[in-house]
Amino acid sequence: MNNLVKISKDKDNDVAIITIDNPPVNALSPGVPEGISAAIDEMNGDPSVKAAVVIGAGRTFVAGADIKEFGKMTAGGPRRSLLPLLLHIEDSGKPVVMAIHGNAFGGGLELAMAGHYRVASPTAQVGQPEVKLGIIPGAGGTQRLPRLVGVAKAVEMCAEGKPVSASDAATLGLIDRLIDGDLLAGAVSFAREIAGKPAPKTRELTEKLGTTAESAAVFAAARDSARKKQRGLKAPLAAIDAVEAATRLSFEEGCQAEARLFTECLFSDQSKALIHVFFGEREVAKIPDVPKETPVIPVNRVAVVGSGTMGGGIAMVFANAGIPVLLKDVDELALNVGMDKIRKNYANSVQRGRFTQAFVDERLQMIKPVLNYDAFSEVDMVVEAVFEGMALKKTVFADLDRVCRRGAILASNTSTLNIDEIAEATSRPEAVIGTHFFSPANVMRLLEIVRGKKSRKEVIATCMQLSKKLGKIGVLVGNCRGFVGNRMFGPYRREAQFLVEEGAEVEAVDKALVEFGNAMGPLATGDLAGLDVGWRIRKEYRHLEKPGIRQPFAEDRLCEMGRYGQKTVRGWYRYDENRRASVDPEVTALVRKWSADAGIPQRQISPSEIVDRCIYALVNEGARILDEGYALRAVDIDIIYINGYGFPAYRGGPMWHADTVGLQKVYQRICEFHRPHGEIWEPAPLLQRLAEAGKTFADFDKEQVAAA
Ligand code: 3HC
Ligand code: NAI
Repeated sequence: MNNLVKISKDKDNDVAIITIDNPPVNALSPGVPEGISAAIDEMNGDPSVKAAVVIGAGRTFVAGADIKEFGKMTAGGPRRSLLPLLLHIEDSGKPVVMAIHGNAFGGGLELAMAGHYRVASPTAQVGQPEVKLGIIPGAGGTQRLPRLVGVAKAVEMCAEGKPVSASDAATLGLIDRLIDGDLLAGAVSFAREIAGKPAPKTRELTEKLGTTAESAAVFAAARDSARKKQRGLKAPLAAIDAVEAATRLSFEEGCQAEARLFTECLFSDQSKALIHVFFGEREVAKIPDVPKETPVIPVNRVAVVGSGTMGGGIAMVFANAGIPVLLKDVDELALNVGMDKIRKNYANSVQRGRFTQAFVDERLQMIKPVLNYDAFSEVDMVVEAVFEGMALKKTVFADLDRVCRRGAILASNTSTLNIDEIAEATSRPEAVIGTHFFSPANVMRLLEIVRGKKSRKEVIATCMQLSKKLGKIGVLVGNCRGFVGNRMFGPYRREAQFLVEEGAEVEAVDKALVEFGNAMGPLATGDLAGLDVGWRIRKEYRHLEKPGIRQPFAEDRLCEMGRYGQKTVRGWYRYDENRRASVDPEVTALVRKWSADAGIPQRQISPSEIVDRCIYALVNEGARILDEGYALRAVDIDIIYINGYGFPAYRGGPMWHADTVGLQKVYQRICEFHRPHGEIWEPAPLLQRLAEAGKTFADFDKEQVAAA
């Protein structure tokens, strides 16, 4: 035994209680399996004990294997397997009852299935989420789960990684009893009921397994769905292969097949990238000069100014989190349009089964449309989402300064404007911050939190914490033009246009990036967002551009022709009434003519050049942003791109991807682009420094953390 696992006895002395105590989530770190094994031996050796209950201390049962250990294993450290422990539990002479609250995830569920019985609190969740880390269950999960819940459900749980509620798990046969109230007391009394009876071993069950042939259609459908819904990911297919192995091999052979697939996945670049993303999503919450203990401002009521595309979505985000919202616009007409859109969005969610009608009715009650600032004195935070224009924003912030109570947070959803300038329109710039939601705000997970020069630490801490409550990933960024995400998106989309102007087909550019793993190609994304948005911004900032530097022209000319993208049914593509895109020969001809007039030589461009030009444009700008301190860490940029821009999580984000390719290679390629294209491709100094020192962006992050 050790301090991670404790053994005690119930007051009647006949049930052993084995408590796993490895905060915060009882991961199966080194010492935990050994502790459980020793506790099982001790209870088997104690003649007064009839059965054991295994339970987790604190907020959860067991969240799985310790994910930090995987990095050590792939870096050449010792290989650890949970399988021997699980067999040891299953072979225990006395029955073992697993008592689950919180989560039994991954290795946690595998541990639970090695017990002879499982009881759970009704709020518990169980699941095999390993695919989200690019791996598959590695301790018999793909072999035991189909024996308990059947092949179809096991395939779904292992390949999709979604958790299952305790009540669903009980219906499936994965949980033997739900326990309301005191879980430990319920588990102990359950243990007494089953003590002395033959203890079922999951690995010996065969009833629900069937044959491979019987489940052939299930496996085929699962593979088909994985290829579509989890495009590019290898782990879901490996998980399906492993469950299939359970239907044709013995338990032992099945575990060997699972172990082979697990190892293949664990050592893949995809898994390393997804593990980077797992820790990265938690790392971004850590702000060196805003410690965890920073006081936060309670946010119980909010207001949103502007009920347009973004304001309406933001109001829904607050309402969905149970926070009442005032939604203000200038006149009845605008407000009605905004509220109608909200109702329509919610109705769609009900139709798609995402929300119940009752939930939606409650949410709608929480959004109060208003035409004046009368009730603004009662709110703790305002998010402004009016048209993008400095003069208007300043007027709105001056109004907010007048009507809101001291201490309230004044946030702007601006995507391009200077937060400090907006803040100066108030008498309290320390209360002003950017909260840059992404469209559609009620769907996209990313929230860029823009720190102004004077933003108070309490204001920053509150927004970071609030983002989690809103179901978002908040990433703190600095106040530069376009902040982090859009600043990088500029060079990325610039390259996409250059490529077309140099001879690439529109759809070839998009296809190459979709094949790379992006959710959409850059040109199709422009059509979706509206080409006119960037056009207007470019016109506004044109005076800031250095003369003599190559600028793309095709998109501006398309806009001059009224081709704004999907909303005008013509942009880079042509759209039918269902918004389905097709290639527009008119665009091809126009771009060829414009390029000839501009004297741009036309050539064949390979998909790999398309990818390198677009992705390295992101990386190079990302490196500048890091160097200038507008992003705290490279991983923050990765999390922004994965959650806000459809960058494939299995490549870990642009900066991690560059590390994986090798910074020397990336640097050299950028130098190759620099020669013909000039200043726009000047390698970022940080990239050059890291490449020359043989370092990575991950090394840069470690140095930042160490220096903080
Ligand atoms: N290993 C190591 N650390 C873990 C961990 C794990 N399995 N799960 C969570 N943590 C850490 C987090 O990194 C975080 O650390 P930090 O405070 O230093 O940032 C801390 O625990 C708390 O985690 P969260 O912030 O995520 O806490 P929440 O309460 O929001 O969520 C959770 C809890 C739902 C359990 C969530 O952490 C989670 O989903 N964890 C991962 C579950 C998982 O993927 N399990 C499978 C692991 S692989 C496996 O088991 C392989 C097996 O088949 C052999
Ligand atoms: P929108 O044009 O859809 O909506 C703006 C709304 O503000 C309109 O309903 C208008 O009537 C209202 N409004 C104007 N002046 C007002 C005032 N003084 N008081 C109250 N309401 C007023 O604009 P959208 O797209 O929602 O953009 C809003 C903000 O969000 C802008 O700053 C924009 O840059 C930013 N943003 C937009 C994104 C997008 O994809 N549309 C993405 C991220 C940020």
